[in-house]
Amino acid sequence: MKLKNKVAIVTGAASGMGHAIAERFAKEGASLVLADLNLEGVKELESKIENSGGKSTALEVNIANATDIEKMIDTAIEKFGTLDILVNNAGIMDGFEPVAEVDEDKWDLIFDVNTKGLMRAMKKAIPIFLEKEQGVIINTASTGGISGAHAGATYSASKHAVIGLTKNTGYMYAKHGIRCNAIAPGAIATNISQTIKNVSEFGSERLKMVQGLIPSVGTPEDIANVALFLASEESSFLNGTVITADGGWTSAF
Ligand SMILES: NC(=O)c1ccc[n+]([C@@H]2O[C@H](COP(=O)([O-])OP(=O)(O)OC[C@H]3O[C@@H](n4cnc5c(N)ncnc54)[C@H](O)[C@@H]3O)[C@@H](O)[C@H]2O)c1
Repeated sequence: MKLKNKVAIVTGAASGMGHAIAERFAKEGASLVLADLNLEGVKELESKIENSGGKSTALEVNIANATDIEKMIDTAIEKFGTLDILVNNAGIMDGFEPVAEVDEDKWDLIFDVNTKGLMRAMKKAIPIFLEKEQGVIINTASTGGISGAHAGATYSASKHAVIGLTKNTGYMYAKHGIRCNAIAPGAIATNISQTIKNVSEFGSERLKMVQGLIPSVGTPEDIANVALFLASEESSFLNGTVITADGGWTSAF
């Protein structure tokens, strides 16, 4: 077991990649806080993990809410005694709007979830990691955090910020046993399209050509494999970097 006796938090654990990551980590021996807006979804996963002999606790968390984040990290300590691995995975899409069509409320919401929530969780976890001189952070970015042509202006900017935050954190705490890396998934079959609202005709037309080059759509389990690698000692010399997992999509550019 690669994560025996480790305590991990996974945000967005009710669906898609977060669900697959949490399930995989539990099989590898980790105790988990399953955090999501969707309480029913994480409760179902909690039962599944328990039935296969694992340990987890489901928690309703809105990652855009500072109090919920405090509670999420405190829950790991209260239930399992510590925190070793933080997976900041919850995220939402925009509607492919270019900057001239940006709606400021939507911009704020997407940044609160994709970027600020992630920063707040890291901010609260780092003191715990500093005390232990040990800790792993894994941020789910996106190929949209590297390329300008995979989503709208808001999502792209929010995920570019995630990559900047990942690199800065990796560097800042490199001498304190803390590793912080990101995964940049390409197209993965999940429920995220449900968060795409009020699609911009102009934006989606511009993105079509790039989307037409997607070689294949990945599975949440493909990403869980990468997350497990980043969480385990096998990646001990990886820090402040981004692993692109897109089946070769962005190698075209
Ligand atoms: N699916 C893709 O093609 C793709 C590609 C690149 C990056 N990503 C990123 O991967 C991550 C996971 O997305 P997914 O594709 O598995 O999507 P998903 O919609 O299947 O799962 C996301 C989960 O996050 C939860 N969530 C949403 N807002 C939340 C909030 N405010 N607080 C707490 N939980 C919240 C949802 O309830 C859901 O369970 C996201 O950060 C997304 O941006 C997805």
